[in-house]
Amino acid sequence: MKISLTVNGKTMSGEAEGRTLLSTFLREELGLTGTHIGCDTSQCGACTVHVNGKQVKSCTMFVAEADGADVSTIEGMANTDGSLGVIQQAFQDHHGLQCGFCTPGMVMAAASLLEKNPKPSEAEIRHHLEGNICRCTGYHNIVKAIMAASGQEVPAVAAE
Ligand code: FES
Ligand code: FES
Repeated sequence: MKISLTVNGKTMSGEAEGRTLLSTFLREELGLTGTHIGCDTSQCGACTVHVNGKQVKSCTMFVAEADGADVSTIEGMANTDGSLGVIQQAFQDHHGLQCGFCTPGMVMAAASLLEKNPKPSEAEIRHHLEGNICRCTGYHNIVKAIMAASGQEVPAVAAE
């Protein structure tokens, strides 16, 4: 079947089978490999994107369900001149990544949180990231990065 989506503001289309997942379609049909697949079973959050403004683990959705939708991916988080967006820059500045595998999902989850709650507390950030797993950072620097991206003072040592 033919699928058309608006991805990061551009209309894109491709062919997919009915069982194709949105994550697979983004990576393999549209070449948007910034969306990572860590588990394919809804555990890790590496595949997090936004669909019609809602945070979604793209491995949990058939692309057919997203036909016609407005999708945002990590590729759309950079500034138009290609420089890092605010959240991406904060992750870099505060060492919010090590191997980087979870980072696209973390950034998309952070963007969704900050849209709803522009000044989240540490506890709110940690709660929001419960569906996103990082095997490298211990989360402290990710929390600091999101505090910084929201224009808040970054604690010297983030709380457990
Ligand atoms: S790849 Fe989707 S939650 Fe892990
Ligand atoms: S930075 Fe390696 S999994 Fe998060």
